[in-house]
Amino acid sequence: MSRKIRILSEKDIREALPMREAVAAMKEAFAELSAGRVTMPVRTHIDIPEHAGTALFMPCFAERFGRIGLKIVNLFDNNAVKGVPRIQGLVCLFDGQTGSPIALLNGTYLTALRTGAASGAATDLLARTDAATVAIFGAGVQGRTQLEGVCAVRPVQKALVFDPVANAAAAFAAEMSRALCIEVAAVTSPREAVFKADVVCTATVSTTPVFDDAHLRAGTHINAVGSYKPDVQEIPTETVRRAHLIVDHRTSALGETGDLIIPLRQGLIKESDIYAELGQIAAGKSPGRASENGITLFKSVGLAIQDLAAAARAFENAVEKRLGQLVDL
Ligand SMILES: NC(=O)c1ccc[n+]([C@@H]2O[C@H](COP(=O)([O-])OP(=O)(O)OC[C@H]3O[C@@H](n4cnc5c(N)ncnc54)[C@H](O)[C@@H]3O)[C@@H](O)[C@H]2O)c1
Repeated sequence: MSRKIRILSEKDIREALPMREAVAAMKEAFAELSAGRVTMPVRTHIDIPEHAGTALFMPCFAERFGRIGLKIVNLFDNNAVKGVPRIQGLVCLFDGQTGSPIALLNGTYLTALRTGAASGAATDLLARTDAATVAIFGAGVQGRTQLEGVCAVRPVQKALVFDPVANAAAAFAAEMSRALCIEVAAVTSPREAVFKADVVCTATVSTTPVFDDAHLRAGTHINAVGSYKPDVQEIPTETVRRAHLIVDHRTSALGETGDLIIPLRQGLIKESDIYAELGQIAAGKSPGRASENGITLFKSVGLAIQDLAAAARAFENAVEKRLGQLVDL
């Protein structure tokens, strides 16, 4: 019997799953995870030190989405000089009842989309409702969808982008102001980015904190997506200590990110300082922001359930809109 799979390119995914719908899919995904209804083993890392690379294998099943997913995503630090994206991947999707393969999706774009959408979901659940100024750290691939995610849920008027590579920040500002029809300005210091920001997104490859805690204004919400290794810290310890701390997944966050592991090892925070998983807030089981003036911090390490939820929604919409290419297996 002939079996077909659907191949979805970046263009197909952009058409099938707009940011706003991706934000809704992330809230659902995190809520399912926190309710214990997702099978998601901790992802497998293969380090490839010869080429400054890491390969991540991220499997998942969730009855709610009716699919089994596996993302293979490769992160190679030296790709920028070769003109190749740092992060590239593929998502394989299978029918949850029969195990039949049904789709193959561009995992490079899907990763950027779901990572931005997760920060959109966190911003919607945790930021002040009048948040209008956003600071973006890291003018790369994720920085772009971070800004899109926040713009999907708040009336953003202005974005400030900081990147030590000045021409990357300038190119980001030109491209994103056109794409989102808001003012986007490149700034030359971390302080200039954060001291007026209502929402701060960090999506960098820095191994040390990217801003000074003292420069944050009261009531700021932070989405921190960059650090996924135990020795890599993007957020200052003082910020982690005083913030209302929310994670995507306790086990993954405590096992993977230096943003928590470093202050934990130093005895400066305790595991019990994690207030909740985002899914508990999305499901209404924990309240979100506690005060207008407090700092809220969403730490994302990136989860297979996000890829599964985004891929499943994109696939359903693509079938309806007849997007993608059908290929005989
Ligand atoms: N949490 C998640 O789900 C998730 C998903 C995808 C990627 N990531 C992580 O996000 C990070 C960014 O990924 P990307 O694909 O955008 O990479 P990228 O290479 O496209 O962009 C990274 C940018 O960070 C900039 N940068 C470095 N140090 C900085 C600093 N101190 N301040 C501001 N900018 C700085 C670099 O100049 C570069 O422009 C990576 O660490 C990646 O592993 C997380």
